[in-house]
Amino acid sequence: MHSQRHTPASHDVPGSDDATHAMIDLGRWLFYDPRLSANEHIACASCHRQELGFSDGHATPVGVTGMPLPRNAPGLFNSAELPALTWADPARTRLAQQVAHALFATQPPEMGAAGNERAILERLRADPAYPPRFAAAFPADADPVAWPRVIEALAAFAGSLSARDTPYDRAVYQGDDDAMTPEARRGMALFFSPGLACGRCHVDIVPPDRATPPRWSDLAYLATGAGRSADRGLAQITGDPSDAYRFRVPPLRNVAVTAPYMHDGSLPTLDAVVRFYESGGRAGAGAEPERLAARHPLVAGFVLSDDERRDLIAFLHALTDERALRAPEFADPFAAPE
Ligand code: HEC
Ligand code: HEC
Repeated sequence: MHSQRHTPASHDVPGSDDATHAMIDLGRWLFYDPRLSANEHIACASCHRQELGFSDGHATPVGVTGMPLPRNAPGLFNSAELPALTWADPARTRLAQQVAHALFATQPPEMGAAGNERAILERLRADPAYPPRFAAAFPADADPVAWPRVIEALAAFAGSLSARDTPYDRAVYQGDDDAMTPEARRGMALFFSPGLACGRCHVDIVPPDRATPPRWSDLAYLATGAGRSADRGLAQITGDPSDAYRFRVPPLRNVAVTAPYMHDGSLPTLDAVVRFYESGGRAGAGAEPERLAARHPLVAGFVLSDDERRDLIAFLHALTDERALRAPEFADPFAAPE
């Protein structure tokens, strides 16, 4: 299962003509607009906040009806580059699929648009600002204020969320040796060391010598032992017991701002994540034998001094694009109308 090839979500990434700009702009307004939800209280941005890398700061979020969602809300930066979306569904390859899920899912509902389709479109039509934005984004449409276009525009905005201007990227790709602090550089060496092996799985982070990392598609879903819930990860989709407790290897850019961590948000800080790996993937005394048995052999435990642990965490902080967390082109347009 884990060696299956995926179609990258990147075909949702828009080009650069005027209609495309208009589509991304429309998508930004819709992303921050709670009128898209059943009770007009929840926007995409309720669970995906820019300053948190478009995660939400909670272990697991609550949908429009107050029902909790089973999994942590991941950050959205660079998600168009991922081979598949969500923590454990290899078939969810397109941003538009995930957008439609957020809008129309009922088990449990996220935004609760199902059953309210006409009322929500009427809200958008009644706001004099929206019809011209839809018309600019979809100039060939006779009646562009329609659900397929809402979904397309939201996917275009999500696909535009790129955040790669990090100290790590400046050091590795631009040869700027001063971009990373000495602590972060020591932490990077630990990250790629055979004893810790972080870099063997987290393939969006490439070694400083730019050696070819393993392919994401080969590693997409692995078991670390993390988690406290009954969620069996990839096995819930495939039904294959050997897929139990496998989750997508998450991208680590901007990870310092997307706490809490893991598919169920069960580890509150990066310090807790590192200690979890130090212990060989034992998340507390109560870990079930089945979950422990599923762990990948690379999650075997190791010993760190306090200084080394600090260095490793400093490296994880060097993966943050500070500008993108405040970039006006990704920010709430209702808060600062242009
Ligand atoms: C109630 C909270 C909530 C709302 C509202 C919400 N999301 Fe999400 N989003 C999540 C959760 C939770 C996940 C992870 C789901 C999973 O792994 O099964 C997710 C996953 C995603 C992903 C995949 C990210 C990745 O790394 O795989 C994208 C893209 C996304 N959401 C975009 C949106 C958009 C666009 C909207 C608005 C239409 C939206 N979300 C509304 C909670 C929410
Ligand atoms: C066997 C492959 C593997 C190894 C080795 C590994 N990871 Fe992970 N990592 C994963 C997977 C899979 C997840 C998601 C687990 C889950 O959600 O249940 C994860 C999750 C994480 C997260 C949480 C990300 C988030 O968005 O919630 C961080 C941080 C992290 N790993 C850092 C590290 C560090 C640091 C090391 C080395 C000490 C390491 N990983 C070693 C596969 C691995």
